[in-house]
Amino acid sequence: MKTVLTYGTYDLLHYGHINLLKRAKELGDFLIVALSTDEFNLLKHKEAYHKYDERKLILESIKYVDLVIPEENWDQKIEDVKKYKVDIFVMGDDWRDKFDFLSDYCQVIYLSRTPDISTSKIKTDLKK
Ligand code: CTP
Repeated sequence: MKTVLTYGTYDLLHYGHINLLKRAKELGDFLIVALSTDEFNLLKHKEAYHKYDERKLILESIKYVDLVIPEENWDQKIEDVKKYKVDIFVMGDDWRDKFDFLSDYCQVIYLSRTPDISTSKIKTDLKK
């Protein structure tokens, strides 16, 4: 039984998100998504259209996702990995190298991003 963990905001869900979640789940048996809270998004200067509980409801409805937990700060990752006995930490390669320190605790894998789609792009395009 391999547990996989990934982090993100997952606002305005799109196919790039689904591609990432599908490939993350295929790396193991149980996929946990640590979902950025609205307060943490403010710290990151990111404002989600959908509130935390709405984004959580959407993620929990995806067949690849087994558990959604809150991401409340930058420093919780080591504790999360230990608490949930995580085998593999996964992020899109826009985060390449940034979380290599977790390799003391689990395997760290960066997956290629799906080109030409992001929440920011959707927001910008809708304003045109
Ligand atoms: N992701 C991906 N391919 C994309 C967009 C996102 O693989 N085209 C991945 C990210 O690398 C991350 C996860 O999906 O691991 C959640 O990313 P998030 O930042 O919530 O989504 P973005 O669409 O990148 O949002 P934003 O434009 O606000 O940064």
